Amino acid sequence: MYRDFPEKYDEFATIGWNHKEENQIYNKFNFNEKQVADIGSGSGKSTFLLAPYAKFVIGIEPEKSMRDLAIKKVKEKGIANIRFIEGAAENIPLPYNSVDYVTAITTVMNPPDEVIPRFIEEAERVVKPGGTIIYKGVTPGWYGGELDHIIQDQWAIENDPIADNEWNKAGFSFEDYQVIQDYGTLDKIIDVYGFIFGLSVIEFLRKHRKTTITWSYRWYFKQVNAG
Ligand SMILES: C[S@@+](CC[C@H](N)C(=O)[O-])C[C@H]1O[C@@H](n2cnc3c(N)ncnc32)[C@H](O)[C@@H]1O
Repeated sequence: MYRDFPEKYDEFATIGWNHKEENQIYNKFNFNEKQVADIGSGSGKSTFLLAPYAKFVIGIEPEKSMRDLAIKKVKEKGIANIRFIEGAAENIPLPYNSVDYVTAITTVMNPPDEVIPRFIEEAERVVKPGGTIIYKGVTPGWYGGELDHIIQDQWAIENDPIADNEWNKAGFSFEDYQVIQDYGTLDKIIDVYGFIFGLSVIEFLRKHRKTTITWSYRWYFKQVNAG
């Protein structure tokens, strides 16, 4: 989907639906005058939300079509404190001790037991002493939100608990937050969720006349070399 339908991803992504969640998280930290690297920045949604809090945000994304959409938006919006570059979680294209925060907001880390330890190593390399690494993932068992019992995403069922274990093993603490996606109409929610997840989801949405979906996200945090 990221490669072929980046605009559809934008309609599906829960980020930014309910700024309360991000505001709660970002207000816990002091981003004022800070440099942030946002890894797996996709079409830029996570980067655009961070930019008003920070001095500068570098969005780093391996998928060209997502990156191109983000670059197009940054030009249209005329935002000066964002740059998007190519790169991946396993190999962050930044120098040692160069940023105050590394964020990765629902960034795919596949396979988690290989990519997450490698990402943490890289994030610890680029973050300054006392800086913080922040990762947002889906709470294990919550992929598909309230539709998890229909969507039954095999990758998430197998990998979300493995990922959770990797963050815990590496000393990250976490907090869970619920987010409600409100599409307003049945047609709109079917347009997005039906497109991605197919007939069984469309039937469920129609039967229950659902226009909202609740998800639960797990935010992981770790301060590096606080001294
Ligand atoms: C669910 S999207 C999140 C995008 C953005 N952070 C947001 O909040 O909208 C996941 C992104 O992770 C990217 N991704 C996949 N594998 C990656 C890797 N190894 N390193 C960095 N990003 C990766 C995908 O290309 C995709 O853009």
